[in-house]
Amino acid sequence: MTRNLIDFIDITPDEFDGLYWLFEDIMHSPHDYRDEARGKVSANLFYEPSTRTNLSFQTAMLRLGGSVIGFSDPSSSSVAKGESLKDTIAMMSNYADAIVIRNPMEGAARAASLYSRVPVINAGDGGHLHPTQTLADLCTIRMHLGKFEGLNVGLCGDLKNGRTVHSLIKALSRYPNVCFYLISPEELKIPDYVRHFMDIHNQKYIEVTSLHDTINCLDVLYMTRIQRERFSCPNEYDRLKNAYVLERAMLKEAREKMLILHPLPRVDEISVDVDDDPRAFYFDQARYGMYMRMALLTIMLRHRASNPEPVPIGGCTCKNPKCVTQSEIYLPPLTHEIDGITYCSYCDKQI
Ligand code: NCD
Repeated sequence: MTRNLIDFIDITPDEFDGLYWLFEDIMHSPHDYRDEARGKVSANLFYEPSTRTNLSFQTAMLRLGGSVIGFSDPSSSSVAKGESLKDTIAMMSNYADAIVIRNPMEGAARAASLYSRVPVINAGDGGHLHPTQTLADLCTIRMHLGKFEGLNVGLCGDLKNGRTVHSLIKALSRYPNVCFYLISPEELKIPDYVRHFMDIHNQKYIEVTSLHDTINCLDVLYMTRIQRERFSCPNEYDRLKNAYVLERAMLKEAREKMLILHPLPRVDEISVDVDDDPRAFYFDQARYGMYMRMALLTIMLRHRASNPEPVPIGGCTCKNPKCVTQSEIYLPPLTHEIDGITYCSYCDKQI
């Protein structure tokens, strides 16, 4: 399997099937895996707040018999002294057997992978991607609906900044006849690069603003919070923060087997009276995420450490102010072309 998990499409559908079987086996017989990572160390480098992702990666490693080092507050590390991402990663990959990184800059995990001797796992890079949340999401859907093919999947909330949504769209686009209902205010619509990704994959999607009018045709409703930390203007956040609130009464219109998912944390977008509805799976989703991370670490830790290829210095022309190349200016240009358009391979924005 892929050495680094940066984007969900690093994992093929067959590799996902393998991971899923391992996830099920670990969930049913966790004791059989208690020595899987004995003697191994993961470095969890969290430059942004996290509860579930950081702690589920930590407990996953501990349950596999391994150990964890790292930080959840970069101000307590040399990052506060101005250390570059490159140097932090080069150092940490001397100490650990895998690196789990969350960073506010888009493309930071890809950048980190250039300088690492050991596998790098993207635990969220700004508003860009979050592939291991997608693993948890797919496990929940597969476990409770048995398939991905032909599902109507509603994604509701901050589709612009919600990295879990971007990764989930990329993942589900690989299965036939999935249709996305993209439910958001105009200001928080899906980014162009994700729309372009869906277009070139002939993915069916409908962009709408009303949750009320859409809920009755969904097999999955994936709620997301409005991402306050990604807004440059607090008034704009205040205006949009209550755009959607899923309430129990609205579920009368929904299908009996519809799954309600949420990557969490929830703010106000799901009313607490929904928690007891049999369709609410968001807490199970978080539990599956832990077992899935055990499966992922089991596989990733099998890669041997090796020195990274030499990396040229500087020269990137990406203009996205949130791209990691804006703060880590030594990064080389990495681009890819789709339909004659050039994209930055760190943040996926058009160059
Ligand atoms: C998500 C994230 O960090 O992107 N949370 C998570 O990892 N489970 C969603 C969010 O913060 O809204």
